[in-house]
Amino acid sequence: MRKQIAAANWKMNLTYQQGEKLLDEILKAGFDLKEHQYALFAVPFPYLLMTRSEVEEEFSSHFAAAAQNCHHKKSGAFTGEVSAEMLHSMNINYCVVGHSERREYNGETNSILAEKVNACLDNFITPVFCCGEPLSIRESGTQNDYVAAQLKESLFHLPAEKISTLIIAYEPIWAIGTGKTASTAQAQEMHQYLRSVLADQYGKEVADLIPILYGGSVKAANAKELFASPDVDGGLVGGASLVAAEFVEIIRALK
Ligand code: PGA
Repeated sequence: MRKQIAAANWKMNLTYQQGEKLLDEILKAGFDLKEHQYALFAVPFPYLLMTRSEVEEEFSSHFAAAAQNCHHKKSGAFTGEVSAEMLHSMNINYCVVGHSERREYNGETNSILAEKVNACLDNFITPVFCCGEPLSIRESGTQNDYVAAQLKESLFHLPAEKISTLIIAYEPIWAIGTGKTASTAQAQEMHQYLRSVLADQYGKEVADLIPILYGGSVKAANAKELFASPDVDGGLVGGASLVAAEFVEIIRALK
């Protein structure tokens, strides 16, 4: 079965001590994970090593720390930035790329994101590539073309053996942090469409390997229903990942 993944995105929340406590609470809940089930914790850069040692100690091959971003250039005079090579040197194996908040507040374009994806892959880091449309696009009914263009412009330069290692997260911007979740039908429809776009370019076998996570107001109360859809392979979770009991249930909701 394709990998099923619950990914926490802490964003810019929690002190170091609060983060440690949250991880402790989540881990002590205990999990009986199936072979194909994983949890990722995308935490602020200064918490990466703490997170890695906490989660790997308990569930080494199924839980991992992830960065929320990296720079697209290899190295150089970019004060305050963190490169993919640096992450790799800390044994960080996942990185969120192209979250809508970074697209919006940091001017990350599809072409810069293509470079970030390359930087990650060059450093053995699996990108969790985010895509998703704003409300105006959804209301105009052109969301499929919009999201497909995000994939094409940032990912379709990759050969099949590389793209097949990626994780994609579909996060409609109108559902992020708003409490307004896409319906299960809307999520499944977009995920199925994105898989067909991937299949047209790379073939069905490759498309079927790529986990597509849903993000946008996922919580314990809706995770099971969302994840039950055949093309929804888990979630990228913001707000609810900051509450231990919520995220524990979200991990348990993986199929
Ligand atoms: P949310 O955020 O779960 O708080 O809506 C999701 C995300 O931005 O990744």
